[in-house]
Amino acid sequence: MNVATDFPLREYNTFGMDVTCARFVQIDSADEIPKMADLFDTPHYILGGGSNTLFTDYYNGTILHPAFGGIEMASQSTPTSEGTSSSSVLLRVAAGEPWENLTNYCREHSLYGLENLTGIPGLVGSAPVQNIGAYGVEVKDCIEKVEGYYTDTMQPFCLTSDDCHFGYRDSIFKHELKGRCFITHVWFRLSPQPRFTLTYKALAQALEGREPTLDSVAETVLAIRNSKLPDITQIGCAGSFFKNPVVDQAQHAALLNRFPDLVAYPTGDGMMKLAAGQLIEKAGWKGRREGDAGIYPKQALVIVNYGNAKPEEICNVYRQVIADVKDLFQVTLTPEVNII
Ligand code: EPU
Repeated sequence: MNVATDFPLREYNTFGMDVTCARFVQIDSADEIPKMADLFDTPHYILGGGSNTLFTDYYNGTILHPAFGGIEMASQSTPTSEGTSSSSVLLRVAAGEPWENLTNYCREHSLYGLENLTGIPGLVGSAPVQNIGAYGVEVKDCIEKVEGYYTDTMQPFCLTSDDCHFGYRDSIFKHELKGRCFITHVWFRLSPQPRFTLTYKALAQALEGREPTLDSVAETVLAIRNSKLPDITQIGCAGSFFKNPVVDQAQHAALLNRFPDLVAYPTGDGMMKLAAGQLIEKAGWKGRREGDAGIYPKQALVIVNYGNAKPEEICNVYRQVIADVKDLFQVTLTPEVNII
């Protein structure tokens, strides 16, 4: 464990906010966590890769950063009811492992399931919290279970995928267990046999006419990402700033009357998910810049820091976007980024 005080966080958040925290604790092994009970009684925040967090001020508490990685192949097959060996592989991955290492590992070991999630920044431990998703796949589709500690009792937990109550950019870790647990490991069930999800139109189109492979799908996903999303090593941002809003059929029909090209996807429970990027674009914000903060010109769902934006500049932009979208569509956008 490494402890530092008055620690600068600029390198620890992809938005590049130049803030500090009172105390920063780097956790080098999951075994250290149950020994930290006292700390969990004081204000704290678990920070993975910092790719989904907007720090708005000095953090007067302890930032806990999991730095323990590791990918274990826990089992290579499971028996089926017919007594044959089925085709799946279980990986147990430590929270501090960079997500990119996991998708690379899958490519190297020919494991299918996570390839559409190639290129997502962050650490593995954060993936189940917001059920990361892209290009037709959500991580819940491959999560078997999630291990960690309840931080109020320091008891270990192991939650099945069902226990995690996964939803669109949502899980139990954002509700009942918010601030009450530390995820240490995520178990993934992956397929050693080719199995692709090509429901995202641009992905299917780019691969049309050739047999998909792990490499071709991953490379195409990266190309699509690069064409729409900023390179976080060059431009500060936290990916999609807002969630795509869900409206009922009546509101959708009324909006469609006014905006015939409105994009919407059925959610499966009678509701319609709108594309926040399109709403923001129609509200006139795409590419708009105020000082060093602005809306990314190629994807309106992304707020960017062009250099030295202060937290309040980013906050001004996101609040104005919410207000303008509300005025035009009577739809309230919700940030998906954690605002601290
Ligand atoms: N659109 C616009 N203008 C824009 C952006 C999008 O009109 O500026 C329209 C597009 O034309 C399209 C629709 O909105 O018809 C959806 O756009 P896109 O496929 O790019 O996806 P998204 O809904 O904007 C979501 C995720 C992304 C993920 C993509 C691809 C959320 C909040 N975001 O974006 O996730 O990469 O789908 O699956 O669900 C992230 O979470 O950081 C992230 C980038």
